[in-house]
Amino acid sequence: MQSQSLSATADKRVQFIVRSTEDPLALDGPNVISGLCGSPKKISPIYVYDKRGTELFERQCATPEYYLRRIEAQLLNCYAVDIVGLCGPLAVVELGAGTAAKTRILLREYAKREVRCDYLPIDVDVDTLAESAHELISAFPLLYVHCLGTTYERGLRLVPSWSQPRLFVFLGSSLGNMEWPEVDSLLSRIFDNSAPGDYLLLGADLDKDSAIIDEAYNDAAGYGPQSTLNMLNHLNRRYGGNFESEQFRYRSQYDARARRNEVRIESLVDQTVTLATLGFTVSFGAGELIDAEVMLKFDPDELGAVLERAGFSMVRRWIESVYRYGLFLLRRK
Ligand SMILES: C[S@@+](CC[C@H](N)C(=O)[O-])C[C@H]1O[C@@H](n2cnc3c(N)ncnc32)[C@H](O)[C@@H]1O
Repeated sequence: MQSQSLSATADKRVQFIVRSTEDPLALDGPNVISGLCGSPKKISPIYVYDKRGTELFERQCATPEYYLRRIEAQLLNCYAVDIVGLCGPLAVVELGAGTAAKTRILLREYAKREVRCDYLPIDVDVDTLAESAHELISAFPLLYVHCLGTTYERGLRLVPSWSQPRLFVFLGSSLGNMEWPEVDSLLSRIFDNSAPGDYLLLGADLDKDSAIIDEAYNDAAGYGPQSTLNMLNHLNRRYGGNFESEQFRYRSQYDARARRNEVRIESLVDQTVTLATLGFTVSFGAGELIDAEVMLKFDPDELGAVLERAGFSMVRRWIESVYRYGLFLLRRK
């Protein structure tokens, strides 16, 4: 890949390391069934993000209440020049890239240096990945995009080694959308699939006044709730289901002691749902809650210690103090 000509046509500047037609969740049916057989029942947050879910998430990000997108973009706008200066030339690997709305700020800084930049976004939302890859290459003439339309774990295994160091980017506080054991396990996957001297740039939402968090996840326009309830439509489409999303409602609650926001889907009536292609039927009682999403809100020192134990040394951290959001630049030991 390194030897590709810089005069390659735009199309040649987008490649798929994992084929764009491959369905990253093709084998996930058994996990859906076991989640819905548990007590409490659970749907993996991975089902938030089909094309429609990403559109709704993007709208939520644009609401005044959803400070995470705005503040992270502000931090990147202020410090991308420092990040690029500290890291030097490298390939950028992004976990959960989505529309790459904020990654552009970093890529723009590389573009200013007028050198080739390789970008490897990993995301299960293959449609959004392909669309944003083409938008990025039109904005940045020396950018080469190598798409990995798959899960974090599989994508990390498939990231090729590179002659330059790699910068692993994980924005939007997506690390907080996992339970702590999954956080530890993902960090060790990043460690195992990176090399000494590689960098990790992490955007993480921090513990704060619960009113700010409650507002962010209950935006007046209702995009947050809609994006969560879209999980049910996603399951319908993928598994021939008959969830009626109006028979459910969104519930979000911040647990300040545990520093975690929990999003659940409540069944409004007694009802039975079938996922035909999985041959699976499940009943919900009125008022029953389904676990859907978690958003951990980190203590910056505790997060630093977790990262240190996982094999990443802190290079620098930038914390916005009003909304309390942090960007952490780390180096793989
Ligand atoms: C919270 S959004 C963040 C998007 C973007 N990074 C940002 O900061 O706005 C999470 C993104 O990660 C993707 N995603 C979620 N779980 C994933 C997984 N297990 N493997 C790969 N991608 C995942 C989703 O499709 C979505 O685009």
